[in-house]
Formats: sequence, structure tokens, C-alpha cells
Amino acid sequence: MNALASLMQTAYKQSFPEASRLILAGWRALETHKAHMSIFFKKVIIITGASEGIGRALALALAPQQPKLILAARNEQRLLTLAAECEQVGATSCVLPTDVTDEQACQRLIQQTIETFGALDVLVNNAGISMRATLEEVSDLSIFDHIMKVNYLSGVYCTKYALPHLKQSKGRVVAVASVAGLTGVPTRTGYCASKHAMMGFFESLRMELEDAGVSITIIAPDFVVSKIHERSFDARGQRVGESPANQHTYQTSESCAVMILNAMEKRQRLLVTSWRGYWGRLVRIVLPKLIDGIAKKAVKEEKSITE
Ligand SMILES: NC(=O)c1ccc[n+]([C@@H]2O[C@H](COP(=O)([O-])OP(=O)(O)OC[C@H]3O[C@@H](n4cnc5c(N)ncnc54)[C@H](OP(=O)(O)O)[C@@H]3O)[C@@H](O)[C@H]2O)c1
Repeated sequence: MNALASLMQTAYKQSFPEASRLILAGWRALETHKAHMSIFFKKVIIITGASEGIGRALALALAPQQPKLILAARNEQRLLTLAAECEQVGATSCVLPTDVTDEQACQRLIQQTIETFGALDVLVNNAGISMRATLEEVSDLSIFDHIMKVNYLSGVYCTKYALPHLKQSKGRVVAVASVAGLTGVPTRTGYCASKHAMMGFFESLRMELEDAGVSITIIAPDFVVSKIHERSFDARGQRVGESPANQHTYQTSESCAVMILNAMEKRQRLLVTSWRGYWGRLVRIVLPKLIDGIAKKAVKEEKSITE
């Protein structure tokens, strides 16, 4: 819309000012009408892990529907920049810096959402971190606690405190897990365990909430371009600091966000973003070794640039 609008402005402004004004007004009316008809128009949506990658891209994908976005993560500056970008395309937004490993902080996130917007329609549990080391190599076992807290327990905390409000709005919970929640992956023992925990938790919760009209959509992305890879813990609990060499073969955060948005709209049960992930979980039942081989190969291919 912005590109087209500026193109029209340049082309017509001087020669046909009146025609240009009318076309632009018509276009804007159409966009506003589209937003008003959309599923998330004026809906209150919390996204955890909104400062980077998939969470950020999802906020931007949602913004043209003019929702009320609550953007949560630790990096306030990045959230403020994102909020401004979302507002430019129609969203209302509120930045709530939150460390999701802290139960009280998650409770405050929900309370402040209700104080600010008076309701909650969608909770997207997206914050996450990863690791890149075999169990044998790991010297700092605290990374297992930390990964479990960020990836799994944060979802438990936020969802628990959000529940009464989601029941009132017959809302949606979105859990951004991973294909690593459907299979094992070498060098990711702690990460896989946290994503399997998410799967079990949200699959069970779906049944508990069925009669209350609250839907649970589990997202299982395959590899996506984002900072998660270089921010992963190494064996000593330090950041890896390098992106995988084959990151150009990964899905972009933007395209993953469009798929998530589509699944959210449909209240889909499970979205697996790649064909190998989709078929892998079925083939694994009869040919588990084949899937182990595919997972091992995927990890080999991601060797960092300096390796
Ligand atoms: N990228 C992939 O290949 C991939 C594949 C499958 C699944 N996923 C999942 O997708 C989700 C998003 O990952 P991404 O790839 O977008 O990663 P990312 O770019 O590194 O973003 C992770 C987000 O989580 C936030 N976060 C981390 N620790 C936090 C904490 N303690 N409290 C609050 N927020 C925290 C980060 O913000 P701050 O640092 O500002 O707090 C950031 O906004 C994760 O759950 C990940 O497991 C990713």
C-alpha cells in the first residue's frame, strides 16, 4: 500500500492533483474496510519474544488488521522500535518489558494487559532460546534449567494467568514450539526436551479448554532465519555467536509469520511449517531410523562459517 501510494503520488500529484487525491482516498477506504472485516481487528494480542525474529515478524504481519498489540521481551528499545513500526500500519501497541522466566513478571504482563486494554483475546507464547552442544560436551548444566524456563515454563506461567481472560473472550492460545518437539535432534537435547514439554502441555490443555471455547494452536517451525542460532548456548553456557553457514536455505521469519497468522485465524490445532517436518512425524512411526538420519544430517549441514 505504501509503495503504491507513493508511486501514485509522484506520478499524479503535479499533473492530476484531484484524480490522485480521489484514488488515494478510495484506496485508504478500501484498506480500512479490509482491516475492519479482519479477524484480529481491535483484538488484544500478547506476543512474547516480540523483540526479534518470528515474534517481531508476527507483530508486523498482524499490524495491518489493526489489533491492540502487547509486545513483550527483555529488550525494551527493540520493542519500542517495533511498536512504532506496527502503529504506522494501523495497530495500537503497548510495550511491556518482561523476563518470561520470572513467574511474577508473567503475572504482571497479564495484569497490565487487562489494565491497559480491558481484555485479552490471543496469547502467543513465542519467547525461546536454543543450544548447540552434545550432552557429553556440556560443562554448565544450568543451561538445561534456563532453556526449560524460557521455552516451557514461561508458557505455563503466562497461560495460567491469562486463562480467566481468555475464557471470557473465547480466545486463542498460540504456542510456538518446533519440529524439535516432534522428534529428537542431536546437539539440542535440552531444547528438544523443552519443546516436547510444550507439546505435551498444550496438547493436554487443549482438551481441558475444549468446552470453554478457547483454542490452542501449536506451531512447529522447521529452521527459520533468526538470531536464535547465534544466541544459542554452547557447551560452557556462552552464546555460540555465529549463524549457521546454510542459513540461506532456511525459511524467513516473515514467511513463517504469515503461516502462523493463517493458522491462528483458522484456530488450527497444529502447524508444521515444512514438508519434511509434516511427513517426518508420520514416517517416524514406521521408519524411526530414517527420521533420526534426517535430523543428524540437518545438524551436520548447519556447521558454522568458521568450522
Ligand atoms: N529460528 C528457528 O529456526 C526456530 C525453529 C523452530 C522453532 N523456533 C521457535 O520460535 C520461537 C522464536 O524464535 P526466533 O527464531 O524468533 O528467535 P530469536 O530471534 O532469538 O527471538 C527470540 C525472542 O525470545 C525473547 N526471549 C529470550 N529470552 C527471553 C526471556 N528470558 N524473557 C523474555 N523474552 C525472551 C527474545 O527477546 P529478548 O532477548 O529481548 O528478551 C526474542 O525476542 C522460539 O520459541 C523458538 O524456539 C525457532
